[in-house]
Amino acid sequence: MSVANRFITLEGGEGAGKSTCLRFVAEYFAARALPLCVTREPGGTPLAESIRELLLQKRDEPVAADTELLLMFAARAQHLEALIRPALARGEWVLSDRFTDATYAYQGYGRGLPLPRIAALESLVQGDLRPGLTLLLDLPVSEGMARAEARAEKDRFESEQEAFFERVREGYRLRAAAEPERFRVIDASRPLPEVQAAIGRALDAWLKELAV
Ligand SMILES: Nc1ncnc2c1ncn2[C@@H]1O[C@H](COP(=O)(O)OP(=O)(O)O)[C@@H](O)[C@H]1O
Ligand SMILES: [Mg+2]
Repeated sequence: MSVANRFITLEGGEGAGKSTCLRFVAEYFAARALPLCVTREPGGTPLAESIRELLLQKRDEPVAADTELLLMFAARAQHLEALIRPALARGEWVLSDRFTDATYAYQGYGRGLPLPRIAALESLVQGDLRPGLTLLLDLPVSEGMARAEARAEKDRFESEQEAFFERVREGYRLRAAAEPERFRVIDASRPLPEVQAAIGRALDAWLKELAV
């Protein structure tokens, strides 16, 4: 498997602090003068952001789980082709707010789609490209929901029931346990400075491992 060591992903449920910590990681790289491309999923390019809108919009027509899955990977194919692969090829680091682990967590564990179906699409769309490092911001669902409450109107995913988010959290934790060499699980229930310090330590160790 071709693991792109400079490809880092940030994962976790709603309100875990991904967007907040994304800025911290961007500053971490800027302070070290390492070129970093910051992006998010679904989205990251104009077309992929259009697909994101299709995915997040609340609609009267029920969205089939396979439709949701294929749209996620359609957006990802564009994101990889137009943004992630070129940035890695230029020697940049890439930091994505969510990637394929989110598809396993939400569409696999959350919606109940068979994991091998997701794995098949992962291979189709990504070839053998996988992130080198994945930071999982983990916290109890109720705490994440309370934090996300403050946000504007809920999108189609945020409108799910608590049981859905419990399955998503469990899915993320199972993936982290299965790939301890790639994942760093961060206790995101702590105050932000402590969460950021933990992320800083994980990045320090990662750069050291890569002899950067
Ligand atoms: N460690 C933390 N402790 C308390 N509040 C936090 C923490 N991290 C983030 N928040 C707050 O929680 C809310 C959701 O954070 P956000 O970064 O948008 O989460 P996500 O992108 O994972 O959904 C924001 O209001 C943010 O300021
Ligand atoms: Mg966010």
